[in-house]
Amino acid sequence: MIMDNRALLSLQLLERLMTGQAVFKRDTIILTVLDTMKNINQNFKVSEESLRKAKEWESRMIEHGFYREHFFQQIVNEIALLSDGPTSILEIGSGPGHLAEKILNSIEVEKYALFDLSESMNYIALNCLNAYQEILDINVGDFLEKTDYVNLNNFDIVVCMQTIHEAGDKNLAPDIYKHISETLKPGGCFLVCDFIHDKTGMDNNTMYMTSDEQREALLESGFKSPVLLSKYSGLTLYKAYC
Ligand SMILES: C[S@@+](CC[C@H](N)C(=O)[O-])C[C@H]1O[C@@H](n2cnc3c(N)ncnc32)[C@H](O)[C@@H]1O
Repeated sequence: MIMDNRALLSLQLLERLMTGQAVFKRDTIILTVLDTMKNINQNFKVSEESLRKAKEWESRMIEHGFYREHFFQQIVNEIALLSDGPTSILEIGSGPGHLAEKILNSIEVEKYALFDLSESMNYIALNCLNAYQEILDINVGDFLEKTDYVNLNNFDIVVCMQTIHEAGDKNLAPDIYKHISETLKPGGCFLVCDFIHDKTGMDNNTMYMTSDEQREALLESGFKSPVLLSKYSGLTLYKAYC
């Protein structure tokens, strides 16, 4: 698919050159992007269908996720307060890399680990975070599986946005939080944002926790001093320490 796009654009450019028409810088940039995607593509097992779904989700968020910027900014502010030098960050369920981009553009980071079940999401994230390739660590894994965290250790901060509910059952949250706590340094910080079940948020009380249940799940998993940093538009942001 990507090769086809490149071949088509190359032919169009060649035709323009041969007929003395202008060649636009924009087109040569697109060729470079397609080449980069082609190289990245070789390292990802990404089906067209899963990539299409991941891109659809990303587009929906860009169009309708008005509340996200509020939480992105809160998370960046919190990390800035916590960091006193280059920081190591793990993001669970990192998706298309929107939060990572915001953090990396604002904070001095020595290592940023992406962790997602979907290779398509990682693929989109890598394209979005190309400028930070040297400090990125890209992981495919299931946040429910303890063994999938085996290479993820000693982080200063773990962030997680709009992801825990994907487990499908709120009763699994303490186990997920326990796995996450084991990736942090002693005293490390967990910043977790998700939808809540209440009248401002989600109806489904099997999948989504109330704000109090989120706090209890953090305590049950061993996190200390959970603090509600923000409640906005049916989501909360909690901070807790390892
Ligand atoms: C709703 S999206 C949020 C993505 C990102 N945090 C953001 O806000 O842009 C949820 C993400 O969690 C990932 N995910 C779902 N279940 C997962 C699991 N069991 N383990 C790891 N990631 C998972 C999905 O692939 C998706 O990228």
